[in-house]
Amino acid sequence: MKKVMLTYGTFDMFHIGHLELLKRIKAMGDRVIVGVSTDEFNHIKGKKTIIPYSQRAEIVASIKYVDRVIPEESWEQKREDIKRYGVTHFVMGDDWRGKFDELSDLCEVIYLPRTKGISSTELKTTLKALSAIDLNELNHAIEILSRIKENLE
Ligand code: CTP
Repeated sequence: MKKVMLTYGTFDMFHIGHLELLKRIKAMGDRVIVGVSTDEFNHIKGKKTIIPYSQRAEIVASIKYVDRVIPEESWEQKREDIKRYGVTHFVMGDDWRGKFDELSDLCEVIYLPRTKGISSTELKTTLKALSAIDLNELNHAIEILSRIKENLE
């Protein structure tokens, strides 16, 4: 029997943690379906994205480990999606451990370890910190450092 894998996520500012997760899911099965959270659903979840849904969905759909992208529009659609797409394995990162165990009457539920040290939230925090840096101050610091370096040579 073919293994049909299903996962959901926002995939904002697509990063290596997302890629590693999708790669591992593909290695475990035959077909990978990804539910990408719409902007409206993210609003309900209280998540604000930088990249709009159409672009996040297009990026995820272009990943070679992904066979199909569907919109994730509500918390309740999972059971319907599992039946509609003949899903055999429901897979999420382990930040969701235990949260979807009730789906195990329909298919296997698996939680995979997250890639350490990266998340969309961290990238957004870094961006914010970078935009707060005063470029004049930074240039001044670089000038001072170059002078020190010249004196050392
Ligand atoms: N994921 C992962 N490793 C990471 C980041 C995310 O395996 N370092 C997984 C999540 O566990 C989830 C999927 O990728 O199953 C989509 O996660 P998403 O919430 O879109 O990404 P995050 O980077 O966790 O976003 P945020 O910081 O907004 O929570």
